[in-house]
Amino acid sequence: MMQPEQHFPEAFQICQKFNISDENMNEIVHRLTKEINMGLARDTHPRAVVKCFITYVQDLPTGKERGKYLALDLGGTNFRVLLVSLNSETDIDIVSKAFVISKELMVGPGKNLFAFIAECLAMFCKEQKIEKDNLPLGFTFSFPLKQIGINKGIMITWTKGFNCDGVVGKNVVELLQDAINHRGDLKVRIVAILNDTTGTLMTCAFTNRNCRIGLIVGTGTNACYVEKTINTEMLDGYQTSNKPNMIVNCEMGAFGDNGVLDFVRTSYDKVVDKQSINPKRQTFEKCISGMYLGELVRQVVVELMQKGLLFKGLSSDAINEKWRFETRFISEIESDPPGTYRNASMIMDQMGIRTNNELDLACLRYICQTISTRSAKLTSCALVCLINKMNAKDCSVGIDGGVYRFHPHFHNLLMENMNRMLKGSVKFELVVSEDGSGRGAALIAAVCA
Ligand code: GLC
Repeated sequence: MMQPEQHFPEAFQICQKFNISDENMNEIVHRLTKEINMGLARDTHPRAVVKCFITYVQDLPTGKERGKYLALDLGGTNFRVLLVSLNSETDIDIVSKAFVISKELMVGPGKNLFAFIAECLAMFCKEQKIEKDNLPLGFTFSFPLKQIGINKGIMITWTKGFNCDGVVGKNVVELLQDAINHRGDLKVRIVAILNDTTGTLMTCAFTNRNCRIGLIVGTGTNACYVEKTINTEMLDGYQTSNKPNMIVNCEMGAFGDNGVLDFVRTSYDKVVDKQSINPKRQTFEKCISGMYLGELVRQVVVELMQKGLLFKGLSSDAINEKWRFETRFISEIESDPPGTYRNASMIMDQMGIRTNNELDLACLRYICQTISTRSAKLTSCALVCLINKMNAKDCSVGIDGGVYRFHPHFHNLLMENMNRMLKGSVKFELVVSEDGSGRGAALIAAVCA
């Protein structure tokens, strides 16, 4: 059994900096609660960091929704077009097609991006022979969006590696509708725009009536939850609304952008932030999500290598290349059975470091565990915060995203940390909610259409 402190003390020292004590976890919950309240309240919303956008989704699905809907999913690893048929509560048929958004499109003019989306949609609809059917469409647009209606939303800022000109400040639904109309070969109705967290919550709620939170731990991270309408001051007429609930998209990835997380951030976090395309933004997300975890690991590995304390005598261009170490490697390395290092050595080989040195590979795994454990701890803080905020005693959480789905221990880490923090006061369940962006968009389209 490897003892980090004894077998690789320098790595141990560095990794200690990523440890978050129970006391600090509770402090994070406290601070996040404060930020959420600021996002919800009308007088503090403009300067709030955690925006808590209202989604205009006030009804959870009943399980009785039926029909055929189109869905678009933009904001994860791939762009997808889906045709979702809600046949019965247990029979949902999905046909989908994924498209790669090229780097040029991700950081090019918004016009090109929306033209591409419309093109993919047209292609898909023609294949399915539904281009003239005028089907309702739900648009899962997983970026900060100030919604002013169920199918109207103003882009606030890009996240997750996107940065297209001419979109911020615009109504995204209109941009898409214009791109579709411009083609002239397609009839669809965009009936809703939503966040992936909202889609995930709706999908989970379709079969699980206790679902109150939607969480994504994927390329980015964010959560939404069911708030009392009376607390959503940004809704005109919130005091007199006849619907008791409103799903709120927290845009939690931005938590810490005002410095309130600096007490747990490390110098490695600061380097990753600096070299990202959106420095000083999405602080919480950069400690948790798939876009960044691999790079955090790489930072620590490279430092130890430069000091001659890891993979001694070996080097490669790949390991020295920013963003080259992918987050899925962390999941793969941690999936090696105890005492074995097959994936680890294969991945390092792929990174140009050929070795079977068990001590080194054990150290690498320990670094991976450190980074993923911190990610799970921070995610647990967010979930505990929302559960407490709702004063829920029995609550299911719908979860999607590659980090949650592919990491071998993430679920267990969440359970363990949440149980410790909640001290048995709440019954909760974490449910994987596959394809929330697609199904959820269809469900919202169904609820709204
Ligand atoms: C980013 C986006 C947010 C989304 C999350 C997960 O944080 O800003 O809207 O929900 O990524 O995809």
